Amino acid sequence: MQSIVSYPDRGVGGKNSYRGNCSPKLIEDLIDQYDLKYLSDYMVGSGTTEDVCKARGVGGMYLDLNRGFDMMTMDIPERADNIFWHPPYDDIVVYSDEMYKAQDIINRYGFDPRVNDLSRCNGWEDFVKKMNYCTMKQFTSMEKGGRMFILMGDIKKRGKLYSMLLDIAKPGTVEQIIIKAQHNCVSDRRSYSGRFVPIVHEYLLVLRKDSPLMFEVQMTKHQRADMRDMEGATWRDVVAAVLEDAHKPLSLKEIYERVDGHKKCQSNPHWTDKIRQVVQNEKFFSHVERGVYGLAAA
Ligand SMILES: C[S@@+](CC[C@H](N)C(=O)[O-])C[C@H]1O[C@@H](n2cnc3c(N)ncnc32)[C@H](O)[C@@H]1O
Repeated sequence: MQSIVSYPDRGVGGKNSYRGNCSPKLIEDLIDQYDLKYLSDYMVGSGTTEDVCKARGVGGMYLDLNRGFDMMTMDIPERADNIFWHPPYDDIVVYSDEMYKAQDIINRYGFDPRVNDLSRCNGWEDFVKKMNYCTMKQFTSMEKGGRMFILMGDIKKRGKLYSMLLDIAKPGTVEQIIIKAQHNCVSDRRSYSGRFVPIVHEYLLVLRKDSPLMFEVQMTKHQRADMRDMEGATWRDVVAAVLEDAHKPLSLKEIYERVDGHKKCQSNPHWTDKIRQVVQNEKFFSHVERGVYGLAAA
């Protein structure tokens, strides 16, 4: 196994009719690479992990919402050595009531699978929150020395990339990131125009549990930044951004008002002199009228 894998021929196990299924060959490679004797999958979908493990004499427990197991509300009934996890990619493929009938699950197991189906979350934040809950639940259920293999992808919506790899919590030791080429996706049949770059890969994140009680967790924090409070931003760039933001030329007084009170001014008692100096740079700024400056034409 290398850090890029590609399985154009899917292999045997699970069902390729189950949307979002994964290649059995990936599971085979993981068994060989990490010499796995036990590999569980609690979102096993069409049963790919189960089929490969059984064929290779590897033990494991295989659950799914479609088999009456809800990761959000039920306890994991074992402490596994290793876990393979292939969650839904947000709502790209909806599972309950699309891949299987919700009513069948209600009749058989007495709960509605749509309530906690990870493919039916209420937006990206809700999805990441639930993903993190499931990540920690599975990681903490694992025995020391175990590995969690998480197969996940990126989603592009309205010009923005939503990356599971970037956003979900990563407990334990991040041992490996493997890029997996995607084949035979529904999106392969679409034709794209313009600047859209079709996503043709997924990631396999390998997390190792080296320590049972205390471990690091890498978390992504999204916060808004104001460049007027940043050390690294130059006065030229701060003034240019103030003018871009205003969409019109501004007087020096108006520029001062828009930066006054920010950290950048607190660290330089002569900040008004500095602003007067940078607006003289004709490469970046234009002198519109007495005391009024705009951005130089591009
Ligand atoms: C991407 S599919 C797994 C596909 C699988 N690797 C295969 O090859 O068939 C994700 C699975 O997560 C299951 N799932 C979604 N939310 C769940 C939850 N709260 N608890 C358990 N399973 C869930 C779905 O039913 C679906 O089968």
